Amino acid sequence: MTALSGAKILVTGPTGQVALPLTLSLAAKNDVWGVARFTDAAARERLETAGVTCVGADLATTDFAELPTDFDYVLNLAVAKGGDADWDRDLAANGESIALLMARTTPKAFLHCSSTAVYQHVGPTHPLVETDPLGDNHRMMFPTYSLAKISAEVVARAAARDHGVPTTIARLNVPYGDNGGWPGWHLEFMKAGHPITLHPQRPNLFNPIHEDDIFATVPRLLDAASVPATIVNWGGEPASIEEWCGLMGELTGLVPTFEETPNTIGSVFVDLTKMHDIVGGTEVGWRDGIRRMVEARHPELLHG
Ligand SMILES: NC(=O)c1ccc[n+]([C@@H]2O[C@H](COP(=O)([O-])OP(=O)(O)OC[C@H]3O[C@@H](n4cnc5c(N)ncnc54)[C@H](OP(=O)(O)O)[C@@H]3O)[C@@H](O)[C@H]2O)c1
Repeated sequence: MTALSGAKILVTGPTGQVALPLTLSLAAKNDVWGVARFTDAAARERLETAGVTCVGADLATTDFAELPTDFDYVLNLAVAKGGDADWDRDLAANGESIALLMARTTPKAFLHCSSTAVYQHVGPTHPLVETDPLGDNHRMMFPTYSLAKISAEVVARAAARDHGVPTTIARLNVPYGDNGGWPGWHLEFMKAGHPITLHPQRPNLFNPIHEDDIFATVPRLLDAASVPATIVNWGGEPASIEEWCGLMGELTGLVPTFEETPNTIGSVFVDLTKMHDIVGGTEVGWRDGIRRMVEARHPELLHG
């Protein structure tokens, strides 16, 4: 499968940063359904206008009885990560929901979007492979995030075996593009003259992946689904916060200011050998992708 067409697809969290452009693009050639609470009414309207059937539900409490059972594919892109540290809600919404959703839908393939937030922080010294130790590298910004994402992986692994549903667990690094993302927030900070936090262990290295590459790799990640679940890192070529903010500075004339603190997310830099074997490499280099993001979000800031 190199593209998805003519399929019935369920996307959880379709109003999110990553899922909204993906869901809109899938809706052009597929029967797409979305489930979320739809707190963002404008995003819901965009989805419905594109033909997406929106089902309002809270993943922390629903049993999905309101959904049909004949989906070909499920893309689990919702995430509950409130700064209020409601552990019970976040474990239910991120973890328990997967077992209930898989039991309800038993699709041909299930893509669970995980995060490289599941790894123990080691700094920029070596790229993390899928078998490296897990830990909590997001606690200082999102208290429940890493542990809820680890819990969600375990539920996805168990439910895949229980229901015989081919599953891929893809550990996404830093998604970005015209719809924003972490580099997009850095651009807003630069525009507002706010400092950007950096971990003292330099460089602050990640694997940003452009939304075009996310679209391109989703069908191949579904192809790679298996029982037991396939677990794979999901990212692009390495780049540091220092580098992408530096480029945004060159493009706009805004000067990034940095504030060093150990109380921020440090490097999470991953090995992409397995991803490249399974789904191939990415196409959009980070310099090109960041330039496109600035053009899309703040064209008025670009020089000339
Ligand atoms: N963004 C990143 O930098 C990043 C990095 C690595 C991995 N990821 C992963 O990528 C995926 C997408 O993340 P994102 O940042 O794009 O998400 P996001 O922008 O925060 O959107 C989250 C989505 O989940 C829905 N949602 C949240 N709580 C819910 C609940 N209780 N019940 C039903 N729906 C709920 C939201 O809609 P409502 O609030 O309206 O319900 C929204 O549609 C997640 O798996 C995330 O862990 C993201």
